[in-house]
Amino acid sequence: MRTEWYKNAVVYQIYPFSYRDSNNDGWGDIEGIIEKLDYIKELGVTAIWFSPLYRSPDYDYGYDTSDYKDIDPKFGTLEDFDRLLKECHDRDLKVIMDLAVNHTSTEHPWFKEAISSKDSPYRDYYIIREGRRKGKKLLPPTNWESTFTGSAWERIGDTDEFYLHLFCVEQADLNWENPKVREEVVSILNFWLERGVDGFRFDVFNMFSKVYPFGDDFSKDSFQKGAPFYVDGPRMHEFLKELNEKALSRYDTYTVGESFHPSEENAHAYVKESNHELDSIFNFGHLDADNIKGKKFFKKPFDLLQFKDGLFAPQRSYYGEGWNTLVLENHDNARSVSRFGIDTKHYRYEAATMLATLTFMGYGIPFIYMGQEIGMTNCDFKNIDEMKDPVSHFVYDLMCGYGIPKPLAFRFIKYGARDHARTPMQWNDSVNAGFNDGQKPWQCMNPEYKEINVEKDLASERSVYRYYQKLLAIKKNNETAIYGKTEEYDHINKKIAAYSREYNGKRLFVVSNFSNKQTDFIVPQWVKNAKVLLSNYDELIRKGQTLTLHPYQAVIFEERENDILKS
Ligand code: GLC
Ligand code: CA
Repeated sequence: MRTEWYKNAVVYQIYPFSYRDSNNDGWGDIEGIIEKLDYIKELGVTAIWFSPLYRSPDYDYGYDTSDYKDIDPKFGTLEDFDRLLKECHDRDLKVIMDLAVNHTSTEHPWFKEAISSKDSPYRDYYIIREGRRKGKKLLPPTNWESTFTGSAWERIGDTDEFYLHLFCVEQADLNWENPKVREEVVSILNFWLERGVDGFRFDVFNMFSKVYPFGDDFSKDSFQKGAPFYVDGPRMHEFLKELNEKALSRYDTYTVGESFHPSEENAHAYVKESNHELDSIFNFGHLDADNIKGKKFFKKPFDLLQFKDGLFAPQRSYYGEGWNTLVLENHDNARSVSRFGIDTKHYRYEAATMLATLTFMGYGIPFIYMGQEIGMTNCDFKNIDEMKDPVSHFVYDLMCGYGIPKPLAFRFIKYGARDHARTPMQWNDSVNAGFNDGQKPWQCMNPEYKEINVEKDLASERSVYRYYQKLLAIKKNNETAIYGKTEEYDHINKKIAAYSREYNGKRLFVVSNFSNKQTDFIVPQWVKNAKVLLSNYDELIRKGQTLTLHPYQAVIFEERENDILKS
């Protein structure tokens, strides 16, 4: 039976490589996570999403899976996982697994079989096509560019055939047209659901269905975006319904899909409850408000209006029909307090708490990325070799190839690198921030750890963690905060973001100052006498309808009972 537990859930994301390394081998592990479950529970979250724990050769750090029904030995064993699951459930924490099934690792036995011979029954598990001949040259079947740079096709040995990989060369796209592939996915889902997991995050799900026949502009030699051929393909809705019918709906599950630039119409359809496809998807539009056209490495001045558009559009669009998610960070994004034009040096606490208040009080499920709850910042990487993410290297090499001087290329990469989110969690100021006992971590530490760590944050009067506790308590328990309709206020204001939530005649109002200066703001009439539920400053300057907000101040107001009766 489905209980819709997800509707007032708060999810904490763990990137297992970097949480806690219990056996001091440099890699985070399951035992390390178990040690920290009380810390996670105390924060007030109700579910944990684990980035992939399955076997993987780690070309893309777990997102290239070579066995979906086993745990990678560096993290532990299946038995360790069962213990983790039990320890989570004992604390009333739900467990959400990450599943990357747009592609498998090229070390997956299916792929090895597939390329071993043209008659292999596994051949049709993947997307394999003849290359094109141009004179003596053998060209890939289409010009498509991989999301991670370079051709999206890789030649199979010295044959004339190529396989499709929309990401790394080591991540071969699965052929979802083949019913056997879909059966495999159903079997993977049921394998973990039977073990007791509570939900899934589907990696780049809206690429499962491709558009046939493939095409491109063959007149050009340069790479082209093939997106029209692999985003929101025609069978997407059918495939999701099938997963629901054969696996997900049989358990009390929750699903969230990581979408790749879906059309508005499709996004809406994926989450519409009556469609029985996904319970929610991620929307990242607001996270592009400090870069050029969604290109992470190209910085532009922060555009608050764009941020608000991205944050509020899904809340408006899905309300009443489907659920929403609220995200500031994940393993693919730089740290939020180091972005969005924020004066991190002087106002880290204020900005971290302001961003959380604004984002998480909206309509949808808050997703907190490990370390965000103590305001972890971007890492001052010294050179490209300190970065482990393959994408940082691909783009760096590409830039250098175009003649961009190395130091400049590095500056670009450093702005948007995914690596910022992947440095080990900062627990205390001892060696390696308490991530482990001194073994060199797989990814370098953020040198800020002496200043920014869990121990210090908890001991501070201005603890981001403790503010999160208060915020999440409101978010989970206040009906208006869960079910309320979001109405944005004063959209064109370039310093302030504000909105109301309304449910069953009750109202909340959330206001946040993105400026490092005191800023005046006129609130709606009804907020004049409203009660302050929470603010990241002790002081609130208000005169009638005018608030004078401190730098990065955020406030949540609740309408008073007698005012509701009056109006
Ligand atoms: C998703 C993951 C990302 C990964 C990519 C390919 O975007 O979040 O980390 O690299 O898919 O699997
Ligand atoms: Ca370890």
